[in-house]
Amino acid sequence: MSTAPASIPQANPGAGYRALKAEIDAAVARALESGWYILGAEGRGFEAEFAAWLGRTHAVGCANGTDALALALRGLGIGPGCAVATVSHTAVATVAAIEMAGAVPVLIDIDPVHYTMDPAELAAVLAHPPAGLPPVRAVIPVHLYGQAADLDTILPLCARHGAVLVEDCAQAHGATLGGRKLGTLGDVACFSFYPTKNLGALGDGGIIATHDAALAERLAALRQYGWHQHYISDEVGVNSRLDELQAAILRAKLPHLDAQNARRGAIAARYDAALAGASVAPPARRPGASHVFHQYVLRLPDRAAVQAALRAQGVGTGVHYPVPVHLQPAYRGRVALGPVACRATERAAAEVLSLPMYPELSDAEVARVCAAIGPL
Ligand SMILES: Cc1ncc(COP(=O)(O)O)c(C=O)c1O
Repeated sequence: MSTAPASIPQANPGAGYRALKAEIDAAVARALESGWYILGAEGRGFEAEFAAWLGRTHAVGCANGTDALALALRGLGIGPGCAVATVSHTAVATVAAIEMAGAVPVLIDIDPVHYTMDPAELAAVLAHPPAGLPPVRAVIPVHLYGQAADLDTILPLCARHGAVLVEDCAQAHGATLGGRKLGTLGDVACFSFYPTKNLGALGDGGIIATHDAALAERLAALRQYGWHQHYISDEVGVNSRLDELQAAILRAKLPHLDAQNARRGAIAARYDAALAGASVAPPARRPGASHVFHQYVLRLPDRAAVQAALRAQGVGTGVHYPVPVHLQPAYRGRVALGPVACRATERAAAEVLSLPMYPELSDAEVARVCAAIGPL
């Protein structure tokens, strides 16, 4: 009697561990044996290796990507009395971090083709901030799903209006724009190492990258109680450290990241080909940018039915994100929006669907997903 093949999950961090088990286990053993578990050689090693891989002079590890954003804003002097523009079509973390820093978020709609910040609406908000809002001192474009926001347009706008640009790279490790890695274009860049990210820890982790030595030094103090020297707080900081175990694991995984991103791209190309005769369009690629397919996202007006049909064929899916931040109970009615009032964001939230996407998907599993999406 033949049994049905196992369902294919939409994300699978356990497969990421098993694929590199020997290297990760050795790294964990090394960290455990060292007897030093917080801010030691593994963390320093990872910061240096990540900075070199990215092409920035400094990288400061911290506890997660949300803290990375909040610390970056604080390090740049963005806090009470400042507004920060970002998008509502993102992980809630981006907006939560702005409020953690003491600043006020203002949410810009997305360009519905690439799902990233609409520069035209940002320009309007920078020129005429919504009534009652403090001046917009920072902009956080989110490089969503593995692809660049339109920094070619956003960067000059920030420069013109004296706003700093903080890149949210949590979903875009290794992606490029104009041949340059995301995370090297703005004033500072923040990455998450949540386990499902393109570079994922086996727990929480984050990092802040910059070319500014003084900022890096301030961030290193802010992540640990504001200490420049042990036990002396020069300013009020937080506890947000990347622990040695996660740093050691990330050191084992980093050398594989580029190959894993290439595998994601190959899987995406197979999904594209499977959709060739379908009524659903493959994800749009921004001209001049490379996509690292953190997510492979389709747009489906009948999403629930498609999700159920794929589930019946053993294909898991996800929705990133079902409820825009401005409609979530904690933010609804109190968070400022740009003049377009996030209309494209709300339409996208109702229709986006993420297919299985991780480098460890086997060719047979990819073929099963292709067979399921071909008739769409
Ligand atoms: C776009 C975006 N920004 C920020 C974060 C926050 O990262 P973390 O979960 O590590 O706090 C995430 C991940 O959840 C994310 O996807």
